Amino acid sequence: MSKRIMFTGGSGKAGKHVVQYLVDQGHQVLNIDTKPLDNPKVRTLITDITDSGQVFNAFSSYMGLHEFDPSLRAQPVDAVVHFAAIPRIMITPDNEVFRINTMGTYNVIEAAVKLGIKKVIVASSETTYGLVFANEPRNPVHFPLEEDYPVDPMDSYALSKICNEKTAQAFALRSGADIYAIRIGNVIEPHEYELFPKWFADPGFRKRIAWSYIDARDLGQIVDLAIHKDGLGFEIFNAANDETSSDLPTQELIDRFYPGVKVTRPMGEYESLLSNRKAREVLGFREQHSWRKYVGQK
Ligand SMILES: NC(=O)c1ccc[n+]([C@@H]2O[C@H](COP(=O)([O-])OP(=O)(O)OC[C@H]3O[C@@H](n4cnc5c(N)ncnc54)[C@H](O)[C@@H]3O)[C@@H](O)[C@H]2O)c1
Repeated sequence: MSKRIMFTGGSGKAGKHVVQYLVDQGHQVLNIDTKPLDNPKVRTLITDITDSGQVFNAFSSYMGLHEFDPSLRAQPVDAVVHFAAIPRIMITPDNEVFRINTMGTYNVIEAAVKLGIKKVIVASSETTYGLVFANEPRNPVHFPLEEDYPVDPMDSYALSKICNEKTAQAFALRSGADIYAIRIGNVIEPHEYELFPKWFADPGFRKRIAWSYIDARDLGQIVDLAIHKDGLGFEIFNAANDETSSDLPTQELIDRFYPGVKVTRPMGEYESLLSNRKAREVLGFREQHSWRKYVGQK
């Protein structure tokens, strides 16, 4: 069924593909971003999410001139998808990453809940597991990284994402809305598969992200499934493809780069260490874009 969706951060690397995926499923999307999106099917409302008034106003605005037509008058918003953020450390000073990401997310979730919107999908991050931006390379408590892991990052970006998950949980508890946080792995756009052979030649290069990846279009599928999955309250889902982004078996990656780290369950030969088991079992995710479709095998 077609949904009316407010999407923050749709002009960015991940957002533009997820927005396109949602439009392709027949949804109406308004992009809420400080920068325009070059997509003739989607309007952008230039909005700064760190300003609560702008967010409330944007979520209650027309999606386009067509909604001036009385028969197409604005309907309630079915879902908010929140991707707008500073997407890592070292783009802005650390305190700005924290301020923009936590304040922006608070404003988005609060406005959604107070306007009666029943579904909010929030972009969280694999960095919450604490490996990616650790000062020194660091071992996880165990593999695979699943949603019940005791997250303990030390950088301002991942910390902002943990705060955002707590904000989501608080508003879900308070309102009964469904608010799902997606811990997104390293996003791969279609043109980026050309980088894989270089990564295969230097298998240690992607150690900190535990060789995870999520195809940007498969991320679209996960977001769409989450939009359609009702009644869970607050939940966290990893977003990763089925296998790692390495051509080496998973156990070999652990033995070479994370020796001694405990593996808590049997894993597939090339299975992703950022587990997508919950997304598959609860949301019904089935990857469509394995790297093996796009990268020549040795
Ligand atoms: N790219 C990845 O590999 C990856 C991995 C894990 C999580 N994420 C998360 O996914 C989301 C999207 O990441 P991305 O890679 O597309 O980042 P991006 O920087 O390409 O896109 C972020 C978008 O947010 C917008 N934005 C920033 N501040 C804003 C503000 N104050 N008000 C309104 N819009 C604002 C930017 O203009 C941009 O279009 C982010 O929440 C990021 O933390 C990304």
